[in-house]
Amino acid sequence: MSAGVTVRVPAKVNVQLAVGAARPDGFHDLANVFLAVGLYDEVTATESPGGPRVTCAGTDAGEVPLDRTNLAARAALALAERYGRPADVHLHIAKDIPVAGGMAGGSADGAGALLACDALWGTGASREELLGICAELGSDVPFSLVGGAALGTGRGERLTELEVGGTFHWVFAMAPRGLSTPAVFREFDRLAEGRDIPEPTASQDLLAALAKGDVDALAAAVSNDLQPAALSLFPELADTLAAGHAAGAAASLVSGSGPTTAFLARDADTAESIADALRTSDTCRTVRTAAGPVPGATVL
Ligand code: C5P
Repeated sequence: MSAGVTVRVPAKVNVQLAVGAARPDGFHDLANVFLAVGLYDEVTATESPGGPRVTCAGTDAGEVPLDRTNLAARAALALAERYGRPADVHLHIAKDIPVAGGMAGGSADGAGALLACDALWGTGASREELLGICAELGSDVPFSLVGGAALGTGRGERLTELEVGGTFHWVFAMAPRGLSTPAVFREFDRLAEGRDIPEPTASQDLLAALAKGDVDALAAAVSNDLQPAALSLFPELADTLAAGHAAGAAASLVSGSGPTTAFLARDADTAESIADALRTSDTCRTVRTAAGPVPGATVL
């Protein structure tokens, strides 16, 4: 009986999310610049006949589905099917990434489970194969495996790794209720009706700011095309953004499709003071600080 394999996987923030027009398949082409930040879930895989079985403990654990809609279970099933073996595995998720949405917590669990099962079963899958399965699981899942910083194109799953010349300090505010990613994209489409949507492209200023580790340049370059749609569906997020801005954030934006909001701080101390101000602002449920980039899914 093996002792099991534990994989640690980071959360992400999107420092640029450029969204193109809806494609015939319903997805949107993106230029999606991901940064992995130091908030982590840990996924432990152990042999368990009749699996996959998923359990979860930690922050927001009660909100995590434990059935086969969980990306961790789907990752185990996809790998087992590929290698013609039963998915006899118990996946335990120690959850610290807020379930609020916009930080890729579910994607992290998918990538973590995939890497953990791969190690537990000794499948010998190549990195490319694992990335291919990640892309089938969801648009953000490949980045959870890779970590660091990367530009995602296509629907966000085709990754080019990026150089980052420093550490960026962030504050994240979790909203009191969720937002559905498909609903935010649908709202984007509604708001875009009758307008010409340009091809999404990565901002050269943003890539240069990341490469230099220049926080002020990054603050000037961050953008999120989904932000108007998220604010349209969840107008109170504007109060959280204003509170972070008033507390001295260099940049304030919705993370991905939201509703988590992200605040770029000039240094670690400023991040803590922005976090304190947000905690007392009465505009959010929980506040966390984290720095990035950090590595992707890692076997402990
Ligand atoms: O790929 P993932 O399952 O994370 O996508 C969730 C939903 O977000 C999709 O069903 C789609 O509605 C929307 N989406 C999109 N374009 C993308 C990524 C996601 O429209 N590039």
